[in-house]
Parts: sequence; structure tokens; C-alpha cells
Amino acid sequence: MSPAQPTGDPAPRDGRLPASVLEGADGRSLSLYVHVPYCSVRCGYCDFNTYAKEDFGDDVGRLTYVRDALAELRFAEKVLKESGLPARPLHSAFFGGGTPTRIPTDDLVRILGTAIEIFGLEPGAEVTTEANPDSVEREDLVALKEAGFTRVSFGMQSAVPRVLEVLERTHEPANVPKVVGWAREIGLEVSVDLISGAPGETLDEWQTSVEAAISYRPDHISAYSLIVEPGTKLAAQIARGVHTPVDDDQQADMYLLASRLFEEAGYGWYEVSNWAASVEKRSAHNLAYWHNQDWWGIGPGAHSHVNGTRWWNVKHPVPYAQRLRDRSSPAAAREILDEDTRYMEDVMLAARIRDGLPLNRLRAEGRDRTPWLAQQGLIDPQALNDDVVRLTLEGRLLGDAVVRELTA
Ligand SMILES: C[S@@+](CC[C@H](N)C(=O)[O-])C[C@H]1O[C@@H](n2cnc3c(N)ncnc32)[C@H](O)[C@@H]1O
Ligand code: SF4
Repeated sequence: MSPAQPTGDPAPRDGRLPASVLEGADGRSLSLYVHVPYCSVRCGYCDFNTYAKEDFGDDVGRLTYVRDALAELRFAEKVLKESGLPARPLHSAFFGGGTPTRIPTDDLVRILGTAIEIFGLEPGAEVTTEANPDSVEREDLVALKEAGFTRVSFGMQSAVPRVLEVLERTHEPANVPKVVGWAREIGLEVSVDLISGAPGETLDEWQTSVEAAISYRPDHISAYSLIVEPGTKLAAQIARGVHTPVDDDQQADMYLLASRLFEEAGYGWYEVSNWAASVEKRSAHNLAYWHNQDWWGIGPGAHSHVNGTRWWNVKHPVPYAQRLRDRSSPAAAREILDEDTRYMEDVMLAARIRDGLPLNRLRAEGRDRTPWLAQQGLIDPQALNDDVVRLTLEGRLLGDAVVRELTA
């Protein structure tokens, strides 16, 4: 089970990109995303494109993934070169999932090694892998560090066993400080992910999780409000009355509490759901997305973006592999964004980050609404004096509504 894909236009079989990708290419960075669509078990709330044993029946896909990922990397090399784009070393790379650490560590190392051989890395490039706290051993982290990974992001979600159970997470809470400790000793930067608002979660339980995450002293913390995705097991349980979702007021209280505790502990917000121990520890990869830079997404269902052209791969690993074996693009469809859509996306992405949206990137109607948004306490009046739209704490709770106002 995973979400529907957008429809889009047919994608050329040879992966050819339109000439518009060349405009301003020298001023944009290139990042790499590698989607590894395998997990040990599927968590009840998750609708990411991932396959667990119950979906696949055996380990074939997990163990042959590397062959297809390497084939797509070579395909990307050819397409980017033939499109006339300048050679750009990678600004960042991010292995996400699914659970990247579910495939053999040697395979992750080979994929990164090949990406470096093809593209190179910018000096100080950030190279992250996501990991589930119970899918990684110390020696795996050592091998990843030696191969060039600089950062690991652990899916902690909660420190409270009852909440982990509702989320159907399989790890022991004690595994999180253990793996965070290993990563730090080895010299990897560490991020942890939390989810607020699991059914039945109290404010006290959430506080326990936030304080636990802070006590492990990661470099970076992401805290997402649980989204009940249609079609997931959790959505079905809620529909049957097995679980009751937390309401919006409770989610807002959880956000305010987490924000206060993170800031008091020295973690500054830099995107609505992300906090870092210093400016240097902000995720370069996520910032590349929010700054609308170029990235190539490798793997089943992965999305890519080059200067307003977006495409997404077929979701299932079997047709994905077949396309690559046929030396054909694995893209299911693509979209060349028109000016209005690019404008909307630019505002939506830039408004969510602390750096904010320069006022001169807003159209006149949006600019006219900014004094009112500042009066409502939703955007920062001081930043506005400096011609920047930056959300306040209240504004971060209502980010989507602020963006709607700015683009109406
Ligand atoms: C897709 S997971 C990949 C990492 C790894 N598999 C894990 O779960 O630990 C990345 C993050 O997305 C977040 N996430 C996934 N589904 C979510 C949902 N329905 N609502 C909010 N956050 C979600 C979780 O915090 C998770 O750590
Ligand atoms: S481990 Fe991560 S990717 Fe896999 S099902 Fe759970 S949340 Fe989704």
C-alpha cells in the first residue's frame, strides 16, 4: 500500500530533458536522493513507497536493488550530460526510504562510491542515510563513515513504549541512545525523527519523547505531526473506532511544547518541522529541496527535479528494474511546471524556512497582504521591515493558511 502518484505527461523513454533545464544551471546545485523501498515490517501509519516481507514474500528485491540503482545512476549520468548541463559535483546526497539500512551495507557503499565516481562531491558535502534504530549495527555505521557518509538520521518517533506500539514501531526505546552513541563516537552527525500526535498520546508522553531526544544530544531533530494517510492500516483502525485521532488543538499544543523545549535546549528552528544545534548542522539536503535546487531521485517511485521539470519513477521495484534492463527511463511520467505553479511552489517552500521569503519574490497582491499577516501575529514584523516574510511561532502553526493568503 502506498499513495497514488500524480498523473503528469508521458516521460520520454530516453529520459531527455527539455532545453529549459539549462537556464541558470550554473547558479543551481545538484543533489542526489536514493530511495530504498524496503522495510522489515510496515508501520501502520506509513504510506511511503516501501515493501515489507508481507508485500514481497521473499528477499529478492532487497538483494537485487543495488544492480538497478547502479543502472539508474549510469542512466542519470548520460541524461544530464546529453542535456548539455554543466558537470556539477553533488551538493548533498540522501539515502531514504523505506529503510536504507535494510539492504546490505556493502550495497549502500557501492551506490555512494559510484555516485562519487560519476559526479564527485562538493567540498564538505552532506551525505545522509536514514536508519531504523533496530536495523543497524556499529560495524555498519563504521563502514558507512569510511565510505563517505557524514550523517545518519534515525527514526526514533517516540520514547514511550505504548506510543511506539500504537505506531507499530518495532524498536526498543533503549536502542535509540545506543545507536546515537555509536554514530557520535564514529564521527557521524546525527539527526532523530519524532512524530507527535499518535492516537491517545498525551502531552506528558510527548514531553517525555521530546526530552529524551534532547538528552541524546543529536545535531538535528525533525518533529512531524502525525498525518493519518488514507489507505493505511492506521486510517482503517480509526475508521473502525479502534483508535481515536488527537485533535488539531492537541497537535498545536504539542508543537508549541516541542518548540519551546528545543529552543531552551539550544536547538534553533530553521524549517517548520526541523531544528538544529547550530546553523552548520541544518540539513543541506533538505535546504536544497526548500530552495528549489536540482536533484535526481534514484529508485522505485523516486521523484526528481531540474529547474521546473519534475518526473517520478514507476513505483513498483519489478517494472522499475525491467525498464532499466531495457535501457529505458524508469520515469512513469513528468511535468514541466508553468510559471504560476513555479511561483506557488517557490512561495510555499520559502515561506516554511527561517531564512524566509524575500518580499520582492512575492507578486503585488501577496505583498499587499503582508502588513495584515504581521498584524495578526502570523509573520514577523521586524523581518518584514527588512523585506523578508518569516513565520512567527503562531504562523508556523498555520503555515498553509499563511501561504494561501500570500498566493490568493
Ligand atoms: C519514511 S521514514 C524513513 C525512515 C525509516 N524507515 C524510519 O521510519 O525510521 C521517514 C520519516 O517520515 C516520518 N513519517 C512517515 N510517515 C509519517 C506520517 N504518516 N506522519 C508523519 N510523519 C511520518 C517519520 O518520522 C519517519 O521517521
Ligand atoms: S520503517 Fe519507516 S519507511 Fe518503513 S514502514 Fe515504518 S515509517 Fe515507513
